[in-house]
Amino acid sequence: MLVLGIESSCDETGAALVRDGRYLLSNVVASQTEIHNRYGGVVPEVASRQQLATIIPVLETALEQSGCDWKGIDAIAATYGPGLAGSLLVGLTVGKTLALAHNLPFLGVNHLEAHIYANWLRKKNQTPLRDKSTNADCEYMEGDPIFPLICLVISGAHSELVLVRGHGQYELLGRTRDDAAGEAFDKVARILGLGYPGGPAIQQAAQHAEEELKQQQKSPLLARNAYRLPRAWLRGTYDFSFSGLKTAMLHLAEGVVENQQSHVSSSGDGKPGSSGPQTTQYRRMGAQAAQRGTINIGLLAASFQEAIVEVLAVKTRLAAQEYHVKQVVLAGGVAANISLRTRLEQELRPLNIRLSYPPIEFCTDNAAMIASAAYFHLCRGEQHGLDLDVQPGLSLPFRLKVAK
Ligand code: KG4
Ligand code: ZN
Repeated sequence: MLVLGIESSCDETGAALVRDGRYLLSNVVASQTEIHNRYGGVVPEVASRQQLATIIPVLETALEQSGCDWKGIDAIAATYGPGLAGSLLVGLTVGKTLALAHNLPFLGVNHLEAHIYANWLRKKNQTPLRDKSTNADCEYMEGDPIFPLICLVISGAHSELVLVRGHGQYELLGRTRDDAAGEAFDKVARILGLGYPGGPAIQQAAQHAEEELKQQQKSPLLARNAYRLPRAWLRGTYDFSFSGLKTAMLHLAEGVVENQQSHVSSSGDGKPGSSGPQTTQYRRMGAQAAQRGTINIGLLAASFQEAIVEVLAVKTRLAAQEYHVKQVVLAGGVAANISLRTRLEQELRPLNIRLSYPPIEFCTDNAAMIASAAYFHLCRGEQHGLDLDVQPGLSLPFRLKVAK
C-alpha cells in the first residue's frame, strides 16, 4: 500500500510517499526555522502563511522524487492535530481536497502517534525498488519494534511516557506537569542567547564545552556538573516537571547580569532583589561565577542538558523495568539529542533492554511518519470522512491503564 503523507502542524511543511508504512520513496521537508529564529520562537500567524506558500511546491517535489504518479497512490493522510490551528488547516485541507479529486481514501493522523511510528521507518538504503511489492505485513515485519514497548515521546509541546502494547494500544504512564522537554530547551536557549530551535543549539554549545575540557586534558564529564541544577524527580510517578529547572537557569542568568551591571556602575550592593531561597541561591551562584570570571555559556548549557537527560533517562528505565518490556523507543524532536540517546543506552544495556530511535531526520517533524502511522490504521480498515476538522488540542488515543 502506497500512502501520501502530509505534515503541517507547526513550522515544517512535509510531504512523503511511503510504501507499507516502512519504506520511503520520497520525504520532502521545508523548514521555517530561519524565519522564526529572529523572534526566538514560532509565530503562529507567520507559520500558517508560510505553510500556504510552501505546501504545493513541497507536494510536487515529493511526487516527482518518488517517481510515482497518482495511479500508484492508494491513500492520502494528513495531520489533524495536535498543533497550531492555522498551520494544521493548510495540510488537512490540501489532503482532503486531493483525496476528493483523485477519489482516494483519506485518513487524519494524530501527530504524536506519528512521532512514535517514525520508529517503523527504514533508512533510505533499505527501501525496496519502487515498483516491487514488499509482501508487507500489517502487524509485524523483521526490523519493526517489538511490543510491548515503552515509548518516550519528547517534542516541543509534549513529554509523555507511554506503554505501547500493540498497534494503536497506548497507556499513558506519565506526562509533564508543566513545560515539555523541548519547550524547556527552547526557553533556556533564549535565556542563554543561543537562538531557536533551542535543542540543537544547547547540544552544540554543550559539545563545544566538553571538547574544550578535553583539549585541556580534563574529563569532559566535568562540564555536565559545572553547575548543580535542580531535578524534579516526582518520585512514585512517571510524571515530569521542567519549569523549576528553567526558572533556576533564569535566576542564574539574572545573577550574572546583575553582577556585571554592578561592576559597570559600581553601585550594586550584591543583594538579590527578590523572593525565595531558591531564587537567592541561583542568583548568588550566577553572581559568584561572574565574579570568578567563569561564566561559560557552554558549561551552563552542558549542565542544563545533563539535568534534563538524567531525569528522562532514569524515569524511562524505571518504567521499562516495571513493565518488563524488551524494547524502549524514542520519539519527537528531543529524541535527536545525542546525550539522551547515549545516557539511555547506558541505563538499559545492563538490563538487556534494547533502545531504538529514528534517524535524526525522522525525529523532527516530517511527513514520512504521518504516512507510516496512517498505514497501520488503514490496514485495520479505518478512514475518515472529508468533514474531519483540525483538532489543535488532540492527545494520544490513550486507553485506561489496566490494573495489574
Ligand atoms: O517534534 P518536533 O520537531 O516538533 C514538535 O512537534 O514540537 O520537536 C521540536 C523540538 C524543539 O523544542 C527542539 O528544540 C527540540 O525538538 N530538539 C531538540 C534537538 N533537536 C530538536 N532538543 C534537544 N536536542 C536536540 N538535538
Ligand atoms: Zn512534532
